[in-house]
Amino acid sequence: MNQTISPLAGLFPNRADIPAEFAPGEPVFQREYLIGGELKCWQGELAPVLSPVCLRDENTNELTPYVLGATPLLDGTAALSALDAALKAYDLGRGEWPTLPVLERVLHVEKFLQAMLETRSEVIKLLMWEIGKNEADATKEFDRTCDYIRDTIHALKQQDRNAAHFIVEQGTIGKIRRVPVGVALCMGPFNYPLNETFTTLIPALIMGNTVIFKPAKYGVLLIQPLLQAFADSFPPGVINIIYGRGRETVGVLMESGNIDLFAFIGTNKGASDLKKLHPKPHRLRAVLGLDAKNPAIILPCCDLNATVKEAVSGALSFNGQRCTALKILFVHQSIADEFVQKLAQEVNTLKLAMPWQAGAQITPLPEPGKTAALTALLQDATAKGAQVMNQGGGEVAASLFKPAVLYPVTNGMRLYQEEQFGPLVPVVPFSDISEVIDYVIHSDFGQQLSIFGREAQQVGELVDIFANQVGRININSQCQRSPDSFPFTGRKDSAEGTLSVEDALLQFSIPTLVAAKQTDAQIALLKQMILKRSSGFLATDFLF
Ligand code: G3H
Repeated sequence: MNQTISPLAGLFPNRADIPAEFAPGEPVFQREYLIGGELKCWQGELAPVLSPVCLRDENTNELTPYVLGATPLLDGTAALSALDAALKAYDLGRGEWPTLPVLERVLHVEKFLQAMLETRSEVIKLLMWEIGKNEADATKEFDRTCDYIRDTIHALKQQDRNAAHFIVEQGTIGKIRRVPVGVALCMGPFNYPLNETFTTLIPALIMGNTVIFKPAKYGVLLIQPLLQAFADSFPPGVINIIYGRGRETVGVLMESGNIDLFAFIGTNKGASDLKKLHPKPHRLRAVLGLDAKNPAIILPCCDLNATVKEAVSGALSFNGQRCTALKILFVHQSIADEFVQKLAQEVNTLKLAMPWQAGAQITPLPEPGKTAALTALLQDATAKGAQVMNQGGGEVAASLFKPAVLYPVTNGMRLYQEEQFGPLVPVVPFSDISEVIDYVIHSDFGQQLSIFGREAQQVGELVDIFANQVGRININSQCQRSPDSFPFTGRKDSAEGTLSVEDALLQFSIPTLVAAKQTDAQIALLKQMILKRSSGFLATDFLF
């Protein structure tokens, strides 16, 4: 018998409601993983992959997560065989891959890109079903990743061109090239399981490192269509792809002491726990993208309507599940009531829908238990004096959570410090800008912030105050990573290292220098080596 359901629960589809073009195919029970150039078949346990999208039973209205398939739960032994393959391919820097001329490595990456493009519609659909990303954002993630690969190739060629010449300093002739570091372990986050992962994976590969890649916790199946492309595009062992629980697989890799580069996008606790397992931490280079609590600082001189729109987009794009999302809004008390009223109205115009539906803005959340965690944060705030300012804010149906604007949020509420990574928008009124400055200075995080205001003197002074606190200051616009040619970094618990297209190439390589005295004899020897092409390192070819 049909039970009455809430409007929110009614947004979940019956099987018949799903348009054929967006319906997932048969569930995929993946057993393949990639080691040493071969797709192996895992005979052990599998981890179920459940979509955040639930199916609504036509008769009972019961909501059940859509089953997408399963992925292999490898054990430590399988993870170590991936490490063996990566070590063999690197061969202490003497392997084919780390010694390959740059142009040839580029050709391998181009081959991979061509094969990847053929998986476009499949991967986009899996992004929608596995992590609930709406169609427009899922498409953007795929295309942005392909652009990132193209831009990386372009940047590497430019870097190589710049390195083609010799330099002469104080009677010494030198030639500097960037060379690989060793074996890299790359792990990405669930919110950008393709893009963020590939922004470390591709630079690591193209610089000549060999790689072990473990996909994120959710958004795992979407790598499967790419496995063959990886296997076909790179020499054996250059890229190895493993699956499974972090503590069982990645733990043993770190404990081995054979990981040289650790690229990780996730929590600072996760990163610290793993780094500590390495027996020689001084030999581990880490490139980390971690937690953030990016504040918006909304001054009385702001353009209120434009600020509201930008704040909503900054706080709630992809349900607030972006490391760069605006996670706390500080609003001057002279405009706070009006701002909050407009904000609440704007939030309530957002369309809650399934990822394939036109204009979907708020979609189901992929992390099991997330709606309960958000509710706990909301209740903590309301118990301590905040109110939900938008009608229906905080309503839940299975994995759907209606965004909630909370006001006034104060120090002492969990939302004041904790990263919600979801559709909660805490608003803090302030009377003196020093309260906000103190917050930023004493925060454990330091990724980005946004200042909204139109008075040059005030905004300019704040820019200088915050320049030593965060990695990027956005003026009258939300926090974000793009354009990918800009440095993406953070301070304190928010990041280690810098990722832009060009910076990533530096993170995954080290400079090596060949030097000789500027004497006739040494110049003659260098000339001979260049002429006879006896050293690839010393070659002065211009890379077209
Ligand atoms: O989750 C963190 C992403 O790097 C954010 O990228 O600001 O372009 O959405 P985005």
